[in-house]
Amino acid sequence: MSKALRHFLDINELPPKELRNMLAASVAMKAKLKAHEKGKKPLEGKTLAMIFERPSTRTRVSFDVGMRQLGGESIMLTGAEMQLGRGETIADTARVLSRYVDAIMIRILNHDALLELAAHATVPVINGLTRRSHPCQVMADLMTFEEHRGPIEGRTVAWTGDDNNVLASWAHAAERFKFTLNVATPPQLAPNKAMKDWIKATQAPIVLGNDPEAAVRGADCVVTDTWVSMGDKDGEHRHNVLKPYQVNAKLMSLAKKDAVFMHCLPAHRGEEVTDEVIDGPQSVVFDEAENRLHAQKGILAWCFDAVA
Ligand code: CP
Ligand code: NVA
Repeated sequence: MSKALRHFLDINELPPKELRNMLAASVAMKAKLKAHEKGKKPLEGKTLAMIFERPSTRTRVSFDVGMRQLGGESIMLTGAEMQLGRGETIADTARVLSRYVDAIMIRILNHDALLELAAHATVPVINGLTRRSHPCQVMADLMTFEEHRGPIEGRTVAWTGDDNNVLASWAHAAERFKFTLNVATPPQLAPNKAMKDWIKATQAPIVLGNDPEAAVRGADCVVTDTWVSMGDKDGEHRHNVLKPYQVNAKLMSLAKKDAVFMHCLPAHRGEEVTDEVIDGPQSVVFDEAENRLHAQKGILAWCFDAVA
């Protein structure tokens, strides 16, 4: 029987120990790179296909550079330039690409399309963001938090904004890594029933609410994201209801003195976060962006079952 494929689709699908190993590998590879030590090239001869149905700066560049640093190569594909854009099915695309490449990373809004791709691919598939989740981002965020503040277990992370893909991956991480996640969203933009049912079923340490001040009070980390995610159409409505959820100096002052501020970027300055906070001493947003590279390398090494 063939070995099970190591798809990286969502944080809550992997055992905490595997996730920990991935993070440890990322930290070790980062340290080696910083020390100008020659890293191993465990992915020599391997090719990653990257499919982008939507724009990307960080995910695209960090996966590409990460593959190169591990000795492999990547091919950049956009949905519109592929036959996928003319109606070829996701399943057939998966079958064909699996004959050429060794892994596939995809950014596609429809989460079911990601699952279909994984079901029909015979190589590992990585979730590079869907409407439902953004697990690669949160692996980098966990790495960043621990770099600045030590183990995340038992700590408190506060989310203020809408319910979106990044929040879902933070929720998955809270359950796997055992930290409290305080969530403040407007009632109209709160997590859906499926997420609420999952929280109940897993007894994940997640507190849902609508009050940003209550969520942030005493937190070790404050996180927000754009008010209008890719695929959202009701921009004006979102701006109106999300105004009270902005992370500004006043809100940030309610968190612990040494709390860090996180944002996956791109940021919409003056909307979900003020310049004062994102450029301030508590902000670690560019470390997060940098750690996308190192976290991605940990994810890639795991997908290929390679010792990095
Ligand atoms: N944070 C993030 O995923 O950024 P990109 O959209 O630039 O990849
Ligand atoms: N929630 C954002 C994240 C971008 C990286 C979006 O989906 O557009």
